[in-house]
This record gives sequence, C-alpha cells and structure tokens, in this order.
Amino acid sequence: MNDADGRLLAKSNLSYRRPELYDAMQADDGVVSQVIGLVGEREVSPAQILDLGCGTGRHLAGLRDAFGAGAVGVDLQERMVRYGRPRYGVDLRCGDMRLVRLGRRFDLVTCLGNSLSYLRTVEDLRLVAETMRMHLAHRGVVVLATLMTPQVELAMKVVRVETDLVAASVEVGSVWEAEQRVQVMHRTWRHDDGTIDVDVLRRRVFSAEELDGALRGAGFSDVQLVSSGLVVAS
Ligand SMILES: C[S@@+](CC[C@H](N)C(=O)[O-])C[C@H]1O[C@@H](n2cnc3c(N)ncnc32)[C@H](O)[C@@H]1O
Repeated sequence: MNDADGRLLAKSNLSYRRPELYDAMQADDGVVSQVIGLVGEREVSPAQILDLGCGTGRHLAGLRDAFGAGAVGVDLQERMVRYGRPRYGVDLRCGDMRLVRLGRRFDLVTCLGNSLSYLRTVEDLRLVAETMRMHLAHRGVVVLATLMTPQVELAMKVVRVETDLVAASVEVGSVWEAEQRVQVMHRTWRHDDGTIDVDVLRRRVFSAEELDGALRGAGFSDVQLVSSGLVVAS
C-alpha cells in the first residue's frame, strides 16, 4: 500500500472524503470501554498507546483520556489525519500500518473499527502483526477489533440520512465473495441537491485461524479470541 492506496480508499467511501461525516456517522460503538475492560483484566496501565489505522483518532482520544496516556495514531489517509489532529488534539501521523516503524514502544497497541479488513492478503496481515510486535513494550497488550464473520445483507435497503452535514437517501446492499473472503458493500448516496456519490467498500474478512496464525507467527504467545471480532494478544 502507498499514497495511491490511500487515495483509492478515499475514492471508495464518501465519509473518508468528508471525515467530519465519518465521525458523525459512527455512533459510540462501545469499543473504547471494551478495550479499557480487557486491558484492566490484564493488569496493564498503559502510559503510551499506539493505534494503527486510527482514522480520525476518535477511539484513540477516548483511550488516551481514560488512561491519561501518551498517544500516537497512524493512518493511511492524510485527510483523516489532518482532520483528526486538531479535533482530538492527538499525535496522528500518515503511514502504512504494514510498514511503519516509529522507533519506540507502546504499552497498548490497538487496531480498531475494522481497519484490518482493508488489508488484502494474509501476508499483509502478517506484516501488520510484525509492526505490532516491533512497537509493543515488555508486558504490553495488543487489542484488535475486526470483521471475522461476513455481515452481508443481500436485499438492497434504502435509508434516509438527515443531519447538519448531509441530507440524502442512501441505497445500501452487499455481496460476499466467498473465495477471496471479501465482503463488498455498495452504497449510493442520492443527495437532496441532486448530486450522487457511490461507495464501494471491499473488506477482507479474516478468520480466527488467520488472525491467530499471523499474531503467533510474529512472536505473540498468548492470543485470545475474546468474542467474534475482538482479539487480545501479548
Ligand atoms: C473503518 S476506518 C476505522 C478508523 C478507526 N480505527 C475507527 O475505528 O474509527 C478504517 C481506517 O483504516 C485505514 N487504513 C486502511 N489500510 C491502512 C493501512 N495499510 N495503514 C494504515 N491505515 C490503514 C483507513 O485509512 C481508515 O481510516
């Protein structure tokens, strides 16, 4: 992945081109409290947190505040990073989570909100697991939240979105490409002003075995599937 991949991602999703819309559309999904609970169970009190695929940094800011920790986020898309930095006052950097090397270690490394599902292959997943291991401090914890079972609604639905930021009828449907384990969501935004945006989100659904294998291969010995979509490793 490179800058061109970041631009492709932005092209695929209106809310990536309008990060304020991204944040407004993402209700509090409870992930921050889940991560706090999991970290607490492991008796880790993180002083430094790294979030890979951080987007606007909304989850990272919540974790930083909860732990009173230092925080760094890395995301492929410059627009998300540029928007999130002043909004959440957090150190967000542009980079590829497969390859980034910050030269320092963190007590908690997270990858939340399905960011892993934008990887294409198990080899990409292995590279991210290696990034995690390289940045994790002694006795640190990794928490991943990603798609592990396809969430496919075959029937096309129309939903109405009306906020300060957007007024549109949105057609949503998805298909499951079983062989590649990719879930493809099609979304057509018919804005009230007559303009149209078309989103095509291709997301790789990694199995428990693929996640476990990548993490163990990178040197993590304790890998736990907490629930579908939530994995903790150290
Ligand atoms: C669905 S958003 C989730 C953002 C954030 N974690 C959240 O929960 O709000 C997925 C994010 O992953 C980022 N992403 C995808 N591939 C990436 C990569 N290889 N390196 C860094 N970020 C990546 C995208 O740019 C996007 O911001």
